[in-house]
Amino acid sequence: MEKIVSLCKRRGFVYPSSEIYGGFAGFWNYGHYGIILKENIKHLWKQRFVFDREDMFAIDTSIISNPRVLEASGHVSNFGNEIFKTQVGTGDEVVISHLRPETAQGIFVDFKNVVDTHHPKLPFGVGQIGKAFRNEISPRDFIFRSREFEQMEVEYFTKEEEWEKHFENWREIMNSFSKEIGIKKVHELEVSQDNRAHYSKRTIDFQFDYPFGRGELWGLAYRTDFDLKNHNLDYFDEERNIRFVPHVVEPSLGVDRTVLAVLVSAYTEDELGGEPRTYLKLAKNIAPVRAAVFPLLKNKPELVSKAREVYVNLKKEVSNIEFDDNGNIGKRYRRQDEIGTPYCITIDFDTLKDDTITVRDRDSGEQERISISELVSKIKV
Ligand code: GAP
Repeated sequence: MEKIVSLCKRRGFVYPSSEIYGGFAGFWNYGHYGIILKENIKHLWKQRFVFDREDMFAIDTSIISNPRVLEASGHVSNFGNEIFKTQVGTGDEVVISHLRPETAQGIFVDFKNVVDTHHPKLPFGVGQIGKAFRNEISPRDFIFRSREFEQMEVEYFTKEEEWEKHFENWREIMNSFSKEIGIKKVHELEVSQDNRAHYSKRTIDFQFDYPFGRGELWGLAYRTDFDLKNHNLDYFDEERNIRFVPHVVEPSLGVDRTVLAVLVSAYTEDELGGEPRTYLKLAKNIAPVRAAVFPLLKNKPELVSKAREVYVNLKKEVSNIEFDDNGNIGKRYRRQDEIGTPYCITIDFDTLKDDTITVRDRDSGEQERISISELVSKIKV
């Protein structure tokens, strides 16, 4: 774990928050490559859980809400100490509210707006990505348990008699998502009644083997009609001409824990050319840099200008291309390996003669000479 934390800092994935003042327990900052990795994961989640589907809608609700929201949801009575109290307004107008401990409540509270706007037939769902805050008593294990974190949540509304079918369906989607982003192995744990949240009648924890032991990665819960009922919300079924409270299946994924599981899965130490090396074997679809373009020597203007030309043209076709001419080539490979860049492209003197370049594969370290015109198809997934 220490090695991963140190790589994250060295290469600009994650820094401790307020570090020059000694840090602040439970808070972390994301650097350039951490942001891109996180954005790539969130982008894929949005596609798979929301935008690729006909039955899903997106929403982005406020972090602070009317205090009645978290009172009705049972959070104030069940987790009063764990939620961040905040003062809204000044003077006589002060209202005490809380920073949200889950994005879910924003979805429930806007249920009527979504129904009035889109007139969806059941089953349908609403997805949201956003920050959540919990005053955890013991934040620990890097970004695993923090006080400010991000969630990707779906609330899926269904008739009561169909909840199990949808529970199974989301379970499969979560498993295939874990594979798509390169998480090594996920273990499903049926959570006993004593350990379930107050709103859940069934929960499966998706667990992951972190370096500090097995722990929760994501959760899938059957929230029944608990939340909509508490917010006095219901649904009118036009076909059957009846009004009732839909039941809810909730796949809930923590962004930061996903980033951690992805990093742990990708972290690899091996030997290349007789030298020990460390690299991130990240899935190509989420690697922060898809390919880095180098001039073989940085003090040869003709190589640098050709490398800039290749870089600019490639960047138009593929996102996240980086130009790198720092240090010698060995140093650049080490840096790109630690960022998890799948391909390094070198422009040398032969390039000037015949428009060919070398492409180095991150995992094998092998180099292949191809023509510049073949580059885009080579590095696009
Ligand atoms: N809406 C349901 C819900 O919030 P949860 O199991 O309490 O359920 C869902 O949280 C996910 O949010 C967890 O599986 C985890 O990925 C993430 N999460 C929860 N608390 C966290 C914390 N303190 N730090 C980082 N991630 C956290």
